[in-house]
Order: sequence, then C-alpha cells, then structure tokens
Amino acid sequence: MLACVRLREIPPPRRPSAVITECASLAVATLNPAQQEAVEHEHGPALVIAGAGSGKTRVLTARVARLLERGVPAEAVLAFTFTNRAAREMRARIESELGPAAAGVWIGTFHATAVRILRREANTLGLPAGFTIYDRDDQEGIVRELIREAGLPEATYRTGVVLGRISDAKNALVLPAEAERAAVGDFERQVATLYGKYQAALRRAGALDFDDLIAETVRLWLDHPDAGARWSRRFHHVLVDEYQDWARATGTCSWSGTTTRASTAGAAPGSRTCSTSRTRFPAR
Ligand SMILES: Nc1ncnc2c1ncn2[C@@H]1O[C@H](COP(=O)(O)OP(=O)(O)O)[C@@H](O)[C@H]1O
Ligand SMILES: [Mg+2]
Repeated sequence: MLACVRLREIPPPRRPSAVITECASLAVATLNPAQQEAVEHEHGPALVIAGAGSGKTRVLTARVARLLERGVPAEAVLAFTFTNRAAREMRARIESELGPAAAGVWIGTFHATAVRILRREANTLGLPAGFTIYDRDDQEGIVRELIREAGLPEATYRTGVVLGRISDAKNALVLPAEAERAAVGDFERQVATLYGKYQAALRRAGALDFDDLIAETVRLWLDHPDAGARWSRRFHHVLVDEYQDWARATGTCSWSGTTTRASTAGAAPGSRTCSTSRTRFPAR
C-alpha cells in the first residue's frame, strides 16, 4: 500500500519520540513527526508530498542514512533526482551525514544513473559499450543535414521543432516505425521519417542522445526482463526526489523495475520513496 506523508500539516516536535532518540546520531531527531514517519517507513512505497522548502530532500537523505544504519548494504540503495544541481546537493547532504559509508550508494540524476546502467548493459541492448552521448549541438547538426538531404523547406521543418517532435516520441517510448504508422498528414509523416533516419545516424555513430538514455534503460526493463530483474533485485531501496519532474519514460523505468522484481521473485516490493511538490503533482 502506498503510504502518503504530508509534511506541512504537522509542526516540528518539541521533543523527539522515543524510537527516534535511538538514532539521534543521524540527526533524525531533528525532524518533525511527519518527516520521521517517512524516514522510518518500512513496508512498501511511500510518497512524500509537500511544498518547496518544507523538508522533502531532508527526508530522503535522512532515510538513506537510516537504511544504512539498519544494515541495508549501500549498494542496495539508489537515490536519484532530476537536475545536476539537485543531485549534487543530495550527494553532499548524504556524504556529510554518512561520510565514507555513502560511497556505495548510487546517487545521481536520472540520466547519469541511466548511463551507469547502460554502460554495464550495453551488450544486452546491442549498444557499443563505449557509446558516446550526443549533446544538443550534435543533434542539431544531424537533423539539419537530414532536412537538407530530404530537400524539405527549412522554414517549415525547423531543426528545433523536428528535434522537439523526436524528443516527444522518445519520451512516449514511440519507435520510428510506430511514429510513421501513426503519422497524420504530410508534416507528421516527414518528421517520422526524419526520426527514423536520425536514429539510424545515431546508431551508425555508436551514439545515444539524452532521451535515448532514459528510453534505452526502459527498454532494458521491458525487453530484457532478466536483466531488469537483476537491477531491481540489486536496488532494494529506490528514493526519488523531485518526483514531479518525471517524464512518462522515467516513471515507467522505475515503476516497471519494482513491478518486475515483485512479479519474478515473488517477493514483496522493496521500499520506494518519492518526494514531490504538491503544486505540480502529475495526474497518474
Ligand atoms: N525538521 C527540520 N528542522 C529544521 N530544519 C529542517 C527540517 N527539515 C528540513 N529542514 C531544513 O529546511 C531547508 C529546506 O529543506 P529541504 O529538505 O531542502 O526542503 P524541500 O526538499 O522540501 O524543498 C533545509 O535547509 C533543511 O536542512
Ligand atoms: Mg528538495
């Protein structure tokens, strides 16, 4: 069952509760009761909903510390978030709380975490192990060239617009062939064809773009259940900060990971903790 904790409703305690006093070394005692509840939550997923600055990231970092204190191996904990800045902040806070014990915990952005997994699973996915990651300039260069080659009017087929459509398709996990089938009208059909050519160019170059990093990781879980299950077994505790920034693809990645483990191993799902800002909570 999904536990849902709202941080703002309950004021900080004057005195820490008995159970929390036992782990005062982790400064959990400084958290308010709702935060403590989320940190101590043991069975099944927990969702923390609260406004900005109300202590959600604090909950996640304290929870990592608490898990390790309870004897969970650092390698079984994955904490991730959306931006580099937020990931750096989370890492700094966890390291200041745990010191060297934090070394084995995977902390990073969705994309950096995806790269770490993909480097190890390149063979499974048929990708070159040393794949390169194309940035925006690389992407624009390819699309511009493809538009020119196809003789399409650049005023209608603007590089940024075409790339945006390709990105949308990837985030919706739509492959080029599927995009071509679903295309309505000349513009969409041409864009779908450009998408197919763009993907082919990336593959020839042994490259992935940012959207591929997430989409390929999702593909690992969907198309290679054994590999997905292996990672799901490893990361028994998944903590997600800035949950509201998930794209559909990133959400599928994490949720399918947990589902895979639960169904293949017959085990209760591991803990998954998400923190999100109430105002931007996505419809699910
Ligand atoms: N229970 C608390 N008591 C005192 N300070 C807190 C508490 N919870 C969070 N803070 C502090 O409040 C600030 C905002 O917390 P943070 O976890 O970054 O919020 P959010 O992630 O919800 O935006 C941080 O400086 C954090 O250390
Ligand atoms: Mg935060």
